[in-house]
Amino acid sequence: MDQVIIFAHQNYSALDSFFISNKIQKVFLVHTKSFLNFKISKYFASLKEKLGIDIVSFTNFHPNPDYDSVVEGEKLFRETNCDCIIAVGGGSSIDVAKCIKLYMGLDNNKLFFEQVPIPNDIKLIVAPTTAGTGSEATRYAVIYYKGEKQSITHDTCIPSEVIFDSAFLHTLPDYQRKSTMLDALCHSLEAYWSVNSTAESKTFSEKAINIILENLDSYLRNEEKGNYNMLMAANLAGKAINITQTTAGHAMCYKLTSMYGIAHGHAAALCVNKLWPFMVNNTQKSNDARGKEYLDNMFSQLAQIMGCKSVKEATVKFSSILQKLNIEIPNVKNVDDFDMLKISVNPVRIKNNPIKLTEEDINILYHQILRNKN
Ligand SMILES: [Fe+2]
Repeated sequence: MDQVIIFAHQNYSALDSFFISNKIQKVFLVHTKSFLNFKISKYFASLKEKLGIDIVSFTNFHPNPDYDSVVEGEKLFRETNCDCIIAVGGGSSIDVAKCIKLYMGLDNNKLFFEQVPIPNDIKLIVAPTTAGTGSEATRYAVIYYKGEKQSITHDTCIPSEVIFDSAFLHTLPDYQRKSTMLDALCHSLEAYWSVNSTAESKTFSEKAINIILENLDSYLRNEEKGNYNMLMAANLAGKAINITQTTAGHAMCYKLTSMYGIAHGHAAALCVNKLWPFMVNNTQKSNDARGKEYLDNMFSQLAQIMGCKSVKEATVKFSSILQKLNIEIPNVKNVDDFDMLKISVNPVRIKNNPIKLTEEDINILYHQILRNKN
């Protein structure tokens, strides 16, 4: 079923209509404390008086949410008989809300993630507070059980409705604004070249890339139009990776974030910036069942989508976006960093990459990505 988009312009009247037409009486609201800084919190506070809707807030979780928080949330949701789940926030709020929905109806005497989920049609509505992750469009969630990462993938996790509220973006710090947008751009590029790409995922990618390039300046100026369009682009890019998953750009970026303290989208863009030229020059090392000729055509089509005449021009255009945004390149702290980096790469994501990458290729790429003064 297609995801419904609710545009929360100014007075949130589209949300009123949603609640009325779906006969919503009680909302289970998943959010962090920062929710109170946003205009939408006042809207939710007014719902009891305005439409007679009760709100049950759930805030007892942290970034990188743990399994126990999800168990507590699922219990509270069940006991309070809420009609729908609404998550307002970034990754952690959305992941917790997805898991609460996914685990409804399972045996709570056993670990939820070891059971086969029972699909349900509980409405899950997500209001993303950045234009980047696209998590509001995907079947993926991550929670931690006893410190160990549990990657959850299930169609039941895909939100039924999304709220686009540009007010979230108004106060977003500049660096976060740039890095989240770069995350969305990398999602759309990586989905386009993924070995799992389909005609549908490519359409999502193409639309996302077009919207990002057309609205980049307006978004950077923090204009309403740019902000709304970037929310749309991030959502479309999310829909693309929901089909394809990400590739080597993302596989290589996670360790950069933990080692150098840079934002996820920043790290992904640094990797894509060197990966892309490497790939267009090595299509004979095809990892895609569709073969070298397909890859050459695909990279040419991607260049056209970028508004460029050649694959080289497209990769240069991507680099020039990073330069324009003043995206910093971290300095290598220690020569051992390269050894740690090359073993950090998730082999599953590398399998999605259109070009086969050896450990040595990855090592060379990290040397190109980072500034090495040693
Ligand atoms: Fe990402």
